[in-house]
Amino acid sequence: LIDFPVYQLEGKRVFVRADLNDPADSEGNLTGDMRIRAVLPTIGYLVNARAKVILASHFGRPKNREKEFSLRGVKKRLEELSSFRIHLAPDCQGEDVVKLSKELKNGEVLLLENLRFCPGETKNDPEYARFLASLGDIYVAEAFGACHREHASISSVPKLIPSMAGFLLAKEINTLNKLLHNPEQPLVVVAGGKKVSDKIKVIGNLIDKVDSICVGGGMSFAFLKAKGYEIGRSYVEDNMDAVAKEILGNNGKKILLPVDVMVAKELRPASESKVVNVDEIPPDWYGVDIGPKTIEMFKAQISKAKTIFWNGPLGIVEIPDFSYGTRIVGLYIALSSAITVSGGGDTAEVVRMMNLDQHFTHVSTGGGAALKFLEGADLPGISVLPERS
Ligand code: 3PG
Repeated sequence: LIDFPVYQLEGKRVFVRADLNDPADSEGNLTGDMRIRAVLPTIGYLVNARAKVILASHFGRPKNREKEFSLRGVKKRLEELSSFRIHLAPDCQGEDVVKLSKELKNGEVLLLENLRFCPGETKNDPEYARFLASLGDIYVAEAFGACHREHASISSVPKLIPSMAGFLLAKEINTLNKLLHNPEQPLVVVAGGKKVSDKIKVIGNLIDKVDSICVGGGMSFAFLKAKGYEIGRSYVEDNMDAVAKEILGNNGKKILLPVDVMVAKELRPASESKVVNVDEIPPDWYGVDIGPKTIEMFKAQISKAKTIFWNGPLGIVEIPDFSYGTRIVGLYIALSSAITVSGGGDTAEVVRMMNLDQHFTHVSTGGGAALKFLEGADLPGISVLPERS
């Protein structure tokens, strides 16, 4: 975007693919806004250049247009954070969207509804890509957090109209290139969160590059189950324990798993809870946080690291009673003298909540995408963009 003559933007329809997928509660109310804030400079630039901005994003993983996945809350937050004139389209496809895009005035923003309301998005359907491309004269890639996805708006639309990286994406690429390609060793990865199937293989692929991987949160129960522990009602995605078993078999020593966990009877505030060793998890209890011995073990890794990459909470942080492990490990990372990179919306929210942003070398908007980047993989949403000369 920086290379595109600003005076040529006036009146142009600029399709901005952003990642506005900030954390939200079960009713769809935003509980964070880091990704929305991160894309504001690009939208502001385009609005001031009097372009017509077609803004598009996914939000969560809807199955059937459930209302909690609407971008209504995102629109509201965007309006609170800016003075942009924003119209929310009722859909992400169809005649109404085309009509609204034609009515859009210079300097205004049309926010499409959740792109994943159309199955063509995640299926990377060429027809849907053509529809989206027809809405813009140029394409600006800003969705770093989704650049690892082969989805229509990420990896196909940029092939159909002139495309370029926006300010946020360019910054993410430049910063992560400096920090994570050839990272200063020892490199320690701290990984947690619930998107286990997405990330577990990447964790496996990182083994050769890292000194250790400290695994907590949802991610850890697949590994603990693979090791044969009773994990009660703790969170495990289907078949992920089998994948975990394979990874442990290959080079398990570098993967540090919790030795103790906090377990709770129910997943709600003020539930009965206790700390137990991992071989004592009661069958009908939930694993909700890492325990104090695990915190000490992770701290020892953090204090010897020269580079630390952290992605994913180490417990159920939405419930404050279960957020202690995540917060204290986050604090150790922030206070370390290593190069520190956090990745992903949920992790960024913890960092922000604790006012630790300034202590991190970089707070990336991408979680899975940043992990993939660290692995050295080509991200479809980046490799599709023309190389800058
Ligand atoms: C994220 O939250 O990591 C990105 O927005 C991508 O979302 P996804 O994992 O649902 O594709």
